[in-house]
This record gives sequence, C-alpha cells and structure tokens, in this order.
Amino acid sequence: MTDKPEPCVLLIFGATGDLARRKLLPALYQLHVKGQLPKGFAVLGASRRPLSHEAFRALMREACDTFLPTPVDDAQWQTFAARLSYEAGHFTDPTLFQRLNMALRDIDHRHGTGGNRLFYLATLPSSYPLLVRQLHDAEMINKAHDHPFTRLMVEKPFGRDWDSAVALNKEIATVFREDQVYRIDHYLGKETVQNILMFRFANAIFEPLWNRVHIDHIQITAAETLGMEGRGAYYEEAGVLRDMVQNHLMQVLSLVAMEPPLSFAADAIRDKTVEVFRALRPLAGDDVRACTVRGQYGPGPGHGHGEVAYRSEPAVDPASQTPTYVALKVFVDNWRWQGVPFYIRTGKRLAHNATEVVIQFRQIPFCLFGQDQVCSRIEPNRLVLRIQPYEGISLGFAIKAPGQERQVDRARMNFSYGGRYDGAIPLPYERLLTDAMRGYAALFARRDSVEEAWRFITPILTAWSADPPADFPNYPAASDGPQAAHDLMATDGRAWHPLDPPVSS
Ligand code: BG6
Repeated sequence: MTDKPEPCVLLIFGATGDLARRKLLPALYQLHVKGQLPKGFAVLGASRRPLSHEAFRALMREACDTFLPTPVDDAQWQTFAARLSYEAGHFTDPTLFQRLNMALRDIDHRHGTGGNRLFYLATLPSSYPLLVRQLHDAEMINKAHDHPFTRLMVEKPFGRDWDSAVALNKEIATVFREDQVYRIDHYLGKETVQNILMFRFANAIFEPLWNRVHIDHIQITAAETLGMEGRGAYYEEAGVLRDMVQNHLMQVLSLVAMEPPLSFAADAIRDKTVEVFRALRPLAGDDVRACTVRGQYGPGPGHGHGEVAYRSEPAVDPASQTPTYVALKVFVDNWRWQGVPFYIRTGKRLAHNATEVVIQFRQIPFCLFGQDQVCSRIEPNRLVLRIQPYEGISLGFAIKAPGQERQVDRARMNFSYGGRYDGAIPLPYERLLTDAMRGYAALFARRDSVEEAWRFITPILTAWSADPPADFPNYPAASDGPQAAHDLMATDGRAWHPLDPPVSS
C-alpha cells in the first residue's frame, strides 16, 4: 500500500463524545507526531456542547493526556492544535450545516484541504440517518465525482439486527455511493489482525495445511477482564453478540477461513469475506441451544474494586437478562472447512485479557513409539495467533526429551512482536483514518458483509429472546466463563485453550 493519504478535512460529528476523546483524537495526534498526516489536513469537531475553538482544543488535549500511553509534547501539541476547530449546534438544525459548510470552506482556504471531506459519524447510531439527510440537504455530499472527494466513516453498531442494518444501508445509499462509505470495525485496524492474511499468504508452508484434512478445529477467543466501565446503558441494549461477535469476531473468522483473494485490492478481499459469511451454517431454533452458550457475570470471589456483578453495574437492570459472555460452535459449509468446528468465545470480566486464534491440527494418525507413556502424551500441534496482549505467534510441537529413555516432551516456537520491534504497535484508528484518507477500503466492512453477518446473528438473537436464560448470573467475575462453555467443548472431546498469559518455552 503506497498511496499517500490525501489532503482533507475530517468533520467529526459527536466530537466531544467518548469515542472521539478515547480513540480518534489520540490516534490523530500520534499520526501528526509521526508526520503521517497529509500537509493539508484539519479537524472540524461538531456536537451540541457550546464550546469555543480554544475550549475544544483544551478538551482534546486533556483526552490525549488521558488516553495516550506516552506524554503529549507541548511543541507538537501547539502545531496539532492549530489544525483543530469546532462548531456547536443541534443535528436537527439546518443552520448548523450551513455554518459547517462555511467553516469547511474557510478551512480549505487556510489549510489547503482542497475541498476533500471525510465525515465521521461518532454519535449515537440513532442520529446516523438524520445526519446523512442533513449533509445531503445542505449539499455537502459530492456523489457524482471523486474530485474533490466526500467520504463517510460510520462507527459500529451498524444496525441492531438484519432489518435495521438493511434499512440503514438503504438510507445511506440514497446519498452516498458504496465506495464512499467506510464502515469501521476497529479490529481490522489491529496489526495482528491484518497479519492473519500476511501470515497465511506470504508463507508457503501453512496454506497447504489450512483445511479440513489437517485441521481438527479452530478457536477464536476475545476474553476481557474489563466490565462495563460506565457503558451499562449501552450494553443493556447491545449484549455480547452485537457488541463483539457480529462485527469484530466475525471479521476475524473471515480472515482465518477465507479463500485466497485474487489480489490485495479492497474488493478482492471483501468478496472473500462475504463468501465466508454466506457459507456459515445457519443457527436457528434447536441448533441455537445445542451450539451456543450464554453467560452473565456475577460478583467475583475477591472483594476488590470492580468485582461487582453485571446486575449491580450502574445503569444495568438488577434483573437483567443481557448476556455478557457467549460461546458458539459454528461451521463453514464449503470444501475447505466441511466438518471443522469453529469455536468462538468472548466475554466481559474474565480472568485474563486474551484475544487469539488457535488452530488445532489433527492428532497423528498412528503412534510408532510403542509405549503408552509416550503415545498417550503426544498432543496435537497447536498454532496460536495472538492478537493481544503479548502479540505474537507460537507453534507447539512434540520433541524427544534428552536421555536414554524414549520420552516425549512439548516445545514451542515463539515469535513476539514486543521482542522483535521497538516502540508501540500503531493504534488501530491510526491505520483506519489514514486508509480512509487514501481511499483504501479493504479494512472496512462492505454493505453486503455487514448484512450477511447480521443474517447469521439475527436468528440467534431471536432464539435467545424466545428462551430466556434461567441461570443468570452463571459465571463469577474474574473466572474463565460459565461451566456450560467448557461442556460445549468437552462433549466434542475438546478443550478451550487456557486463557492464562502465554508461557515462553
Ligand atoms: C468494542 C466493544 O467495540 O470493542 C467493547 O464495544 C470492547 O465492549 C472493545 O471492550 C474491545 O476492543 P479492544 O480493541 O480493546 O479489543
């Protein structure tokens, strides 16, 4: 990818909100410091809060101080802050959009942004249709041409089921062309997630094994120690399937399972994503009971800070039935993967942070070492793609333990990003923002992939609401999830990869 980010103004709706403060401004500041923003670049923030330009800059400085791991440099901040301005108003008010239009033209003049616009919807999703209409009515969208360009960046959640996602896509399509729309899934911006394709298709040795003949099963895990962190109201509405699976984990699944794309062009990759989603065996009715496990955390065993039950979190219903954990067994019905289960699990308030993909190969077909104590100790090879933390890749294999006796031991080959590369791995939003400025959409969800992902998830949501859980809360905070999730694996004669931090030998 060599195209340079093009000059533009990033107009952020919801600029004083959580996402802008936690993710967007810190990522933009980092890009500024690294010299990776185009020379002609500026940010225009818009939201309801009445703030002067200076007050907005101060708020963003505070956000960068809080959310960046390294201190903000005063001199760098001065030059970055000169790129920030702000306009307050209600999104229902057409005069706000007239003012924004004027401000944008003024910025073009002062910053050399050439009329290019990147509109970022970082608001509550309920405002998306309104914002899109207002932008259209104020004639701020250039649907016919790309010079200057207008692009739309939309945050998740993109709909709350198949119907609402289709409706939202339709609404957006009335005013934007699909290639102008960049639906964010920040998992795709993670280096280690992007590495899945590089690992698969820049090495000759793994791809021949990457199929049902050699692979027993695949596990995709995103375990979080965090609880609600003040997001109880949102989470009550979302629950774990909408929050983590429909988007992030299904995208990871598609990268692991996809056929080789014809090229690295955005649509070549996204075509293959959609094929994976279309090949997913639907889960509905009774299959949902057999192949899914729901969980909700109760209080933790300790009495430390943050170990309260989900139902005791602020803004959560004390009798809430919202799941904070899910384990799923899914199948990709095609030639490559027929019969290979993909086990997916994710949950809040688990014992460890661990996001990873585990490829478990088949057991050896025949043991020639002739002794029970050797043969019974031979475990299948496991390849672990560690997304975060302890980013890296490891491969477990059997070796002969040194000595006269014939004894098998386990060894592990490890690659760690931290050991290999100095400095922090770039933040996902750094990559996603610059890709949108380049017009490179491979790391954004296309309309059909969002709809196909919802087509798979929606029947599970429907089956769950028709069959409320009787046992919530069913796992203690700081544990490794509900017993039923372990049973799901044990019934198949398998086990989850332990959540503990990886060992180095
Ligand atoms: C967000 C979810 O999309 O992803 C959060 O809304 C979750 O609930 C977060 O914690 C996880 O992202 P990351 O980058 O910390 O793995």
